Amino acid sequence: MQFFIDTANIDDIREAFSWGIIDGVTTNPSLIAREGGDFIQRIADICEIVEGPVSAETVSQDAEGMIREGRLLAKISEHIVVKVPLTTEGLKATKVLSGEGIDCNVTLCFQPMQALIAAKAGAAYISPFLGRLDDISTDGVGLIEQIVQIYSNYPELNTKVLSASIRHPMHLTQVALAGSHVATIPYGVLKKLVNHPLTDSGNARFLKDWESVPDNNITAQVERWLAARDS
Ligand code: G3P
Repeated sequence: MQFFIDTANIDDIREAFSWGIIDGVTTNPSLIAREGGDFIQRIADICEIVEGPVSAETVSQDAEGMIREGRLLAKISEHIVVKVPLTTEGLKATKVLSGEGIDCNVTLCFQPMQALIAAKAGAAYISPFLGRLDDISTDGVGLIEQIVQIYSNYPELNTKVLSASIRHPMHLTQVALAGSHVATIPYGVLKKLVNHPLTDSGNARFLKDWESVPDNNITAQVERWLAARDS
């Protein structure tokens, strides 16, 4: 499963990318508004850091406007994926932009047929929002399972399932088990993926035991050993 980071915060993107686990980035108008500053420069900077798919969302509500914005956004970098909402206008824009070779991420998907029609329109990614479904007592992970199943029934569809609105590590385990191609993850959830109390206590025990080893400076020991071997 590919990991995208779901933020427009440059510091968080840079840090998470340095861990070697980030394949792309998703942004949306809310995330951009949270950061402030020059939106376009921010998108360009993100593309330089990640060198993978970076979703940038259009804000026009008519297809003509989405297509105009999408074409311009795509000029920023070869990595731009144009994000459009799952509306009839968004479908029209997806058909035109994907026909021009511009990848589209169709967002705000909440039921399986929306995912199927987005794929038929040529979406490169579909973004089902599982956390927001869970918020209203609906089965978000179940939606991911259904979309993955439907897409696999029709191998001619090339749309990737991009699980979005991820709220906690269990969501990731569940969508990975469901076969989601991608998950886009807030930085706070990414940090939680690393942590386990047994990792911390195990590491502390190794360090304590190591203190009882005489002459326990690894760097000095190895350098001495290498010098002796190579002399
Ligand atoms: O990528 C979509 C995601 O940002 C939505 O997440 O937490 O606002 O439901 P959330």
